[in-house]
Amino acid sequence: MSALDIIGVRKTYGEIETLKGIDIALESGEFLVLLGSSGCGKSTLLNIIAGLAEASGGDVRIGGRSVLAAHPKDRDIAMVFQSYALYPNLSVHRNIGFGLEMRKVPAAERDRAVREVAKLLQIEALLDRKPSQLSGGQRQRVAIGRALVRKPQVFLFDEPLSNLDAKLRMEMRTELKRLHQMLKTTMVYVTHDQIEAMTLATRIAVMRDGRIEQLGTPEEIYNRPATLYVATFVGAPPMNLLDTVADGGRLVLGDNAALPLPQAWKDRVRDGRRLVLGIRPEALQLDAAAGPAISATVEVVELTGPELVVSASIGRQRIMACLPPRSRIAAGQRLTFAVEEDAMHLFDAESGLRIA
Ligand SMILES: Nc1ncnc2c1ncn2[C@@H]1O[C@H](COP(=O)(O)OP(=O)(O)OP(=O)(O)O)[C@@H](O)[C@H]1O
Ligand SMILES: [Mg+2]
Repeated sequence: MSALDIIGVRKTYGEIETLKGIDIALESGEFLVLLGSSGCGKSTLLNIIAGLAEASGGDVRIGGRSVLAAHPKDRDIAMVFQSYALYPNLSVHRNIGFGLEMRKVPAAERDRAVREVAKLLQIEALLDRKPSQLSGGQRQRVAIGRALVRKPQVFLFDEPLSNLDAKLRMEMRTELKRLHQMLKTTMVYVTHDQIEAMTLATRIAVMRDGRIEQLGTPEEIYNRPATLYVATFVGAPPMNLLDTVADGGRLVLGDNAALPLPQAWKDRVRDGRRLVLGIRPEALQLDAAAGPAISATVEVVELTGPELVVSASIGRQRIMACLPPRSRIAAGQRLTFAVEEDAMHLFDAESGLRIA
């Protein structure tokens, strides 16, 4: 069943068009991540779904029913924000159950619902404390608990983890994933963190400047980015982009460097066409037998722990490679990198679009 339909949604503030026609259809149980840099319209879209902002055009349907005319509290959604204001003078128990209390849910039933959610979030022992007696991560759990207890059709999250430190963020991320696997509720989650998007989403909508640049599974976004923008937004270090020109079955990279043009593209790419060759840092291998090879001169070597990040130059162009940590490499060294054909991404230099 279709859980959430976003149909041609637009939003204008005065002269400025913040959302330029967004279309997404979500099946029940999906975890959609809206990913994009600051100001691209993520929160605006979420707020329109929640009923906190008005759409200038288009429709939003929850469970097949248009909700644009419905009050936020009648939309069967629950939202968790980045700044989760808890009531400081109420216990954790009452904070979580506050919405139910407002709806005059009987105390015994409320208590059962609160305890069930607290168990799920592993904060049962904290129910009698005040928010000031909690850590940041525990407070965030309470905020999530307050949303969970309502058992909505759709959860909306707007950067719920961005106030937490790196370690806690990672823990809470895993926690959210576990929750989603258990509850199977439809979720829409806003972030500009590509790791969060990759790890949590069943589908990612990469947004840019009020539009969806690509909508796909994490695998599709990572392995077949539709545009140069998506290619560099997801992945760290980002995908290497090399300016190249097709010439006689080769991709010329400048000076004496070239790679054979993979067979799949031979019919699609005319000689002289300006292209961008994309290669992920982790796709560059030192095993010369692994595929066509290019030579590069090592400039900087950085050990991050799990991998060795090597910056190198091919003529005037720069690339980065993520290699096994025990590779013996030093600045100034000449290296030969092998690249498997299916690790090559080709984009039109002018339009930035992927060449299929
Ligand atoms: N009330 C408003 N009036 C005018 N412009 C607004 C209003 N709210 C948002 N905008 C503009 O709309 C654009 C999108 O804002 P939005 O908050 O959706 O971005 P975002 O993707 O959530 O960014 P961030 O990652 O920084 O939270 C921005 O350029 C913003 O300045
Ligand atoms: Mg925002």
